[in-house]
Amino acid sequence: MQVFKEKRPLIDRIEKAKSDDLILGLVPTMGALHEGHISLIQTALQQSDQVVVTIFVNPTQFDNPEDLDKYPRTLENDLLLISALKKDIWVFTPSPQELYGENIFSEHFEFQGLEKVMEGKFRSGHFDGVGTVVKRIFDIVNPDRAFFGEKDYQQLQIIRKLTEITASPVEIIGCPILREQSGLARSSRNERLTSAQRNEAAFIYKTLKDVKNLFGTKSAKYISKWVEREFKNKKNLKLEYFEIANENSLEKLVVQSKNEKYRAFIAAYADDIRLIDNIAL
Ligand code: PAJ
Repeated sequence: MQVFKEKRPLIDRIEKAKSDDLILGLVPTMGALHEGHISLIQTALQQSDQVVVTIFVNPTQFDNPEDLDKYPRTLENDLLLISALKKDIWVFTPSPQELYGENIFSEHFEFQGLEKVMEGKFRSGHFDGVGTVVKRIFDIVNPDRAFFGEKDYQQLQIIRKLTEITASPVEIIGCPILREQSGLARSSRNERLTSAQRNEAAFIYKTLKDVKNLFGTKSAKYISKWVEREFKNKKNLKLEYFEIANENSLEKLVVQSKNEKYRAFIAAYADDIRLIDNIAL
């Protein structure tokens, strides 16, 4: 493992790797690494000759300054986890100035409606921030492939659209969601849950599995109402949204088509901790 705080020495190494025809794989993260991130890195190692992991808590994608402040920063532990993989992984940990220069702001993107639903509706400016930082990281690392988790499925679709609108040659690889034993999707935010909240949060995935069973025999409208009722019975979980949407366009399902695929999405709060999850139907 090698750690780069500055982009110039990293770019030099990357240019050398590229001139040797190595396939470069990129895993962008905000740190506080857990097994979900590690599974992405392992997939990247299998599908690339050289892997770059970025660890950068991106200020422009937080709509709420408090959320940015509270975001866990555990660089020392993150580096231990990566070095335990015993591979020559290059880790880029820039400062905000190194990545953005003096003007830390987002570019505005039109992602053809993908940015307007679900996370986009509830977290204003979020996907402009994600698009801005990922575009900058792609420009620096110039990867052949970049690996993103289906945990943030809407983000994955947005990044696919980003490469389309910027005519970027980067191949985007979606990776499956890693879960805790209880079914709760792994997330840096789970560390903030009390053990009671953590047990209760497993209800989110349980509900998604029930939705998968209902889908096909019940309408989307019926299922949505059912999910809302189920959450009303949970004292410590507050549903922010439930949606069944087209897997590609993320448009809300109104009339089901046999040729299209759908996913169900949930965002819910346990106290002030926001959790998201989704399932293929
Ligand atoms: P972060 O939340 O750190 O996630 C980094 C990557 O890990 C994302 O692609 C995310 O989908 C994936 N991931 C997180 N939890 C996962 C799980 N349980 N199973 C599988 N993959 C999981 O997403 C971001 O950072 C940022 O928005 C970023 C893309 C780095 C831009 O700042």
